[in-house]
Amino acid sequence: MKVLLVGATGNLGIRLVPALLTHGHSVVAFVRSSEKLESLLPQSVYRQVAVVEGNATDSAAIKKAILDTSCDAVVNTAGLAALPPWGKSDLPNIFRAVLDGVSEAGTERERPLRAWFLGGLGVLHFPGSESMLSNYIPIYLAHRQNLRLLQSLRPDALDWSLLCPSDMIPESSDFGVPTKISRARLAANATTPPLWNDSWIRYVPLIGRTVLCAMNAGRYVTTLEQNAEFIASDLESNGGQWSRKTVGVINSVE
Ligand SMILES: NC(=O)c1ccc[n+]([C@@H]2O[C@H](COP(=O)([O-])OP(=O)(O)OC[C@H]3O[C@@H](n4cnc5c(N)ncnc54)[C@H](OP(=O)(O)O)[C@@H]3O)[C@@H](O)[C@H]2O)c1
Repeated sequence: MKVLLVGATGNLGIRLVPALLTHGHSVVAFVRSSEKLESLLPQSVYRQVAVVEGNATDSAAIKKAILDTSCDAVVNTAGLAALPPWGKSDLPNIFRAVLDGVSEAGTERERPLRAWFLGGLGVLHFPGSESMLSNYIPIYLAHRQNLRLLQSLRPDALDWSLLCPSDMIPESSDFGVPTKISRARLAANATTPPLWNDSWIRYVPLIGRTVLCAMNAGRYVTTLEQNAEFIASDLESNGGQWSRKTVGVINSVE
């Protein structure tokens, strides 16, 4: 696929460049600074990427980039959610603008685009309930409003998925192609976290579910490379397994 990668200079974005190329995609990087992207990537990789400079809060620029370069898919990693509920970040503005740009581009070309967005573990449901994990540990709340925006879209406007990792740590700073990942592939699940460890503790009044969330949270740390590989490989298979879903991930070998 030809993929518009918004936020290619970030922690996840920079690892998505080689992952997407390794899976046979063409990459159009949408960044604020092409110099920054060039400084981060090996020359041999940078040469394989088309670059569009722009601001991700500008929906018209996103739409134009998609239509001008004939992209079929978008991955948005731009913007970073604030941790505390009172924290401020550009993510909500970026998310809305990218969503508008991608949806409008789909309408104009009369075919919805495939798109991966980034959320967080907190928008997944507590297993066996309809309640989000962030109801028990209220952090990174911007992802909740972003998910509401996705869910309010007409089904024919966009074929979206929301990847909801917990902390992602770097595995290496080698951004060569093909990628070399030393860790196992991720196990994934829609709507609720995969391989959740349940316990009687959930039944403790008032604090039970919060304690259980805290006990599970550390198990969901993955690497940036694993998540980049997950998205790149899904776009290659184009199977529709994760369409219009939130997706939780965990190391398949703990
Ligand atoms: N890192 C984690 O552990 C983690 C865990 C769960 C979820 N997430 C979510 O995953 C996403 C990616 O995380 P990350 O760690 O890769 O974030 P990051 O390293 O902070 O990268 C953010 C990217 O957004 C770009 N950006 C910011 N404002 C922009 C704008 N107005 N226009 C264009 N680009 C803009 C930045 O570009 P510049 O280089 O120009 O600043 C950078 O490339 C975030 O939404 C985050 O909330 C992250």
